[in-house]
Amino acid sequence: MSVIKWQTAYEIGIPKVDAQNREFVELINKLELVAYSKHAETVVEEVLIGLVDHIRYHFPVEERVMAENQYSQIDRHAELHLEFAHKVAQLLRKLKENSYVPVQDVLPYLKSWLVSHILREDTKLRIFASSEMFK
Ligand SMILES: [Fe+2]
Repeated sequence: MSVIKWQTAYEIGIPKVDAQNREFVELINKLELVAYSKHAETVVEEVLIGLVDHIRYHFPVEERVMAENQYSQIDRHAELHLEFAHKVAQLLRKLKENSYVPVQDVLPYLKSWLVSHILREDTKLRIFASSEMFK
């Protein structure tokens, strides 16, 4: 596997959302970089805790953009956010209970979710980038 390289295709054009999505990518890349080392399991916990924190401020920002622009698919998008938040919480719970979650159970899921979510869902918010509120 390899790190996710930020691409212009991931950009929505709303600086705050793009900056936070870049942070999202960096957080997951942090795990990729140590995935095959002896530090992998420690970093799994660190990254999951980091994700809980990140999604706590990032998802509401996106959802606010949608609400303020009366985006018709807001409920579906918020549901996808909620599902991801639950999955991250579940992985973290599993890790606390068993004091171990293999990196292979975490990393492929996080990478594919993030890339497909940004490309298929977040980029739909591009239509709001030209809105007066983001100038
Ligand atoms: Fe999103």
